[in-house]
Amino acid sequence: MRILVTGAAGFIGSTAVEALLRRGDAVVGLDCFLDYYPRAVKERNLAGVRGNPDFEFIEADLATCDLPPILEGIDGVLHFAAQAGVRASWGRDFEIYARANVLATQRLLEAAREQAKPPRVVYSSSSSIYGDALDFPTTESTLPQPISPYGVTKLAGEHLCRLYALGMGVPSISLRYFTVYGPRQRPDMAFHKFLQAHLAGEAIVVFDDGEQTRDFTFVGDAVAANLRALEHGQPGAAYNIGGGSRVSLNLVLELIGELTGRAVSVERRERQKGDVRDTHADTGAAVRELGWEPVVTLREGLAAELAWVREERARG
Ligand SMILES: NC(=O)c1ccc[n+]([C@@H]2O[C@H](COP(=O)([O-])OP(=O)(O)OC[C@H]3O[C@@H](n4cnc5c(N)ncnc54)[C@H](O)[C@@H]3O)[C@@H](O)[C@H]2O)c1
Repeated sequence: MRILVTGAAGFIGSTAVEALLRRGDAVVGLDCFLDYYPRAVKERNLAGVRGNPDFEFIEADLATCDLPPILEGIDGVLHFAAQAGVRASWGRDFEIYARANVLATQRLLEAAREQAKPPRVVYSSSSSIYGDALDFPTTESTLPQPISPYGVTKLAGEHLCRLYALGMGVPSISLRYFTVYGPRQRPDMAFHKFLQAHLAGEAIVVFDDGEQTRDFTFVGDAVAANLRALEHGQPGAAYNIGGGSRVSLNLVLELIGELTGRAVSVERRERQKGDVRDTHADTGAAVRELGWEPVVTLREGLAAELAWVREERARG
């Protein structure tokens, strides 16, 4: 198959590119190197696939580029491109979120609709669309009530996918990831910041009391869900993709201490606006309809991220 991966230079996108190439697909990667974090980091994410004859890279912005020709001959799209991050989505920067998450998604779906055979599109949604859900584990039928502008834009993108699937003949599927972690994790994300601080001998900054919980999902499992959704996802549907281990940040800190053989020192700060207290995915629909289940435990996944952060630090 010939697959377009948007956001191909990012954390999850670059991991997906490698998985697709490994299974023998031809991949077109597209990214505009949004400056949310350094381009050099994203270039490193792509270093292993540049030069692969089955990989073509297009540097372009989904919000402005001429998309229909790029989609010609494409069988499936994994749409990771977005402005990520909950905390930065308040205030003036909302414009960046609206553009990258809503407008870019609409343009992609519109270009897909114009194709003789519209490709399947797998959209990267987020547990943030639920906000402070009251029912745990949370099922897909829970009323989405995001508590951050980021969550609002991800939900808008999801609704667009549903519209184009049900009324415009573009078979689109949404995957609601629950906090993805692992090698290449974005530098603004908790585990990455925790590991960097701890390895530098500094205190780890934790917002709130550390008893907030997350259903952490290993990046390889999130990518595997994309591959399953490309083939088996029900057009118009949304699936929870959670790692299966809901744990508190305090437990993660303990695990970091164990894995590094050194107790962590913690600096506590106030809860941040837009951060949800708990997340816990009911992944029954993904198991039944996609045939997907997470396979990497938190300990294994965190050890893999620790090894990667050590390599990054050694590189300087
Ligand atoms: N990481 C998580 O825990 C998590 C959780 C839920 C959902 N998601 C979603 O998964 C997707 C990937 O997240 P990530 O953590 O890999 O983020 P990332 O920032 O590492 O990757 C996103 C990539 O998209 C690119 N991009 C942004 N806007 C673009 C545009 N208009 N045109 C072309 N490229 C553009 C960026 O340059 C970046 O390389 C995002 O849609 C995000 O909302 C991530």
